[in-house]
Amino acid sequence: MPNRKPKEKATAEFVQAEKAAKFILSKTKLQPKIALVLGSGLGAFADEFENAKKIPYAKIPHFPRSTAIGHAGQLVLGTVDGVAVAGMQGRVHLYEGYSAKQVAFPIRVFARMGAKALIVTNAAGGINLSYSEGALVAIRDHINLQGANPLIGPNEDRFGPRFPDMTRVYDPEFRRFVAEEGKKLASNLHEGVYLALAGPNYETPAEIHSFRTLGADLVGMSTVPEVLAARHSGIRVLGISCVTNMAAGITGASLTAEEVFETGARVKDQFIALLKAVIPKIARAMA
Ligand code: HPA
Repeated sequence: MPNRKPKEKATAEFVQAEKAAKFILSKTKLQPKIALVLGSGLGAFADEFENAKKIPYAKIPHFPRSTAIGHAGQLVLGTVDGVAVAGMQGRVHLYEGYSAKQVAFPIRVFARMGAKALIVTNAAGGINLSYSEGALVAIRDHINLQGANPLIGPNEDRFGPRFPDMTRVYDPEFRRFVAEEGKKLASNLHEGVYLALAGPNYETPAEIHSFRTLGADLVGMSTVPEVLAARHSGIRVLGISCVTNMAAGITGASLTAEEVFETGARVKDQFIALLKAVIPKIARAMA
């Protein structure tokens, strides 16, 4: 089938994203070029934005609402060190029953708002045995085993091409900024491959063992739908995981959501310091 041409009727997703983007921009004078998805426990970063304007997801046309605990569910527009940003305090996940398109919808909205960079954060299980609980890991690449993809369906050429390249999903320059700033902050910092599953259960030890042989360093239940939509639209991506626990079978301990939250809370300040350090560099790189 030939590609649909832009003159064709816009998809419902495009029309809805356009409407949401206009709504958000009508609430602020800021023009954020950097969007952030703040995962479990990291939403607090948005409370530190200056000149903040908070918009509950429920007020934004067509925006999905998070049901997960630890996710506030509002968009915070503001500045970090003078850089205009849009921060999602909370995200939705496939395991909540949302489709990959719904999970990725906010990214479509950011694209329509003119965002050029996306910083995604998440909590993940550590598969790489050189990691330890509390480590921060810049995502170098991902393996999508979610069985879902937001790009399935008629392609919207206004967003991007039918067959988007995924050779450098996680921007090498942004990763360099993280390495440079991470060194100064002396944090427990690594780079690794993130393997995404739909969840909601944690993995079995046999799954973790097999994922290690596949080349995965981290495992989690989020991020990939948003990242695929961002790259489809040419948005440059930085992904950072917090290793909230070593993955199933490594220590022998059972995995709990409490442990994930506790570690996330413990590392939060360090994680925020790293984000604050890289945001101005990312802004300069895009100027
Ligand atoms: N597995 C999947 N997702 C996660 C984990 C894990 O061990 N920890 C935090 N999110």
